[in-house]
Amino acid sequence: MRAFSGKTVVFATVASLALGSPIKYDTNSTVELQSSLTQEVLGWDHATFPSIYQTCNETNARMLNAAFKDTAEITAYGKDRLLNYGVDDVYYKRWFGNGSIFTVMGVLDQLMEASKGGMLMRCDDADGLCAANPNYYAGHHRQSFPAETVICDYFYTSRKPLSTICFEGTIVDVGPKHYAGIDMLHRYLHVPTMSMDGFIGEYAETLEEVVDYAQNNVTFAVRNTDNYLYYLADVYSTSVIPGGCLGKL
Ligand SMILES: *[C@@H]1O[C@H](CO)[C@@H](O)[C@H](O)[C@H]1NC(C)=O
Ligand SMILES: *[C@@H]1O[C@H](CO)[C@@H](O)[C@H](O)[C@H]1NC(C)=O
Ligand SMILES: *[C@@H]1O[C@H](CO)[C@@H](O)[C@H](O)[C@H]1NC(C)=O
Ligand SMILES: *[C@@H]1O[C@H](CO)[C@@H](O)[C@H](O)[C@H]1NC(C)=O
Repeated sequence: MRAFSGKTVVFATVASLALGSPIKYDTNSTVELQSSLTQEVLGWDHATFPSIYQTCNETNARMLNAAFKDTAEITAYGKDRLLNYGVDDVYYKRWFGNGSIFTVMGVLDQLMEASKGGMLMRCDDADGLCAANPNYYAGHHRQSFPAETVICDYFYTSRKPLSTICFEGTIVDVGPKHYAGIDMLHRYLHVPTMSMDGFIGEYAETLEEVVDYAQNNVTFAVRNTDNYLYYLADVYSTSVIPGGCLGKL
């Protein structure tokens, strides 16, 4: 079953965030993980996901659904961080400077809960761009069919589950799009209904530029896709791995 495709699902992340929330651990417990699993942090009550087209086989669909699930998990951490720490948070400042938290909050809500009716992920190489860019294109947006995204076979081998965060290198080393869920969010933002016709866009993609936006051009920090991707990866890694794994900026 394609449990996450085109349907509204209740997605409750199991996430005891390291956010100073009043979590009481049973210090006598020998199974430490279990105590954190009992702490329920609600993620998204009304998460929506794109449809998966019939050209995707069951394996493709399972991997895409896993990536969708990761989009919900990582944005839930990001939103929780925004709500609990606000604009004075070092993570917020690092990627958005003193940019508007209302914009950032709205973008996360839009990405996860806005209607995705018509938004389609397809697995045929409809425009031949996957074949033309082997081992480079993990997918692409279709200009001529703006609600559609082609996922290339390279996606499945190159994009990793969030559970592997910090395993293959720092976020700075591998880049946030190394992770399927984060790469997927960036693909959502190519779709005009998600990006508000390019209000959010790829204005700058190098890490240096992304950091520069946060420090010197916050109007665009909160409008730049990669600032969101780095923020989410940074917050997530520090939430699930002690110390996180941002790497050297
Ligand atoms: C842990 O065990 C000690 C000794 O058995 C007991 O005094 C203490 O109340 C326990 N703590 C918790 C949180 O259960
Ligand atoms: C599904 O499609 C992929 C190519 O996207 C292919 O490698 C794989 O073998 C297919 N799986 C099945 C079960 O047909
Ligand atoms: C952000 O900080 C700059 C420099 O201190 C200031 O000019 C600007 O008004 C601030 N922007 C917001 C949205 O607070
Ligand atoms: C902010 O970035 C935008 C887009 O790259 C650019 O057009 C604009 O000139 C920049 N503003 C400042 C103050 O650097």
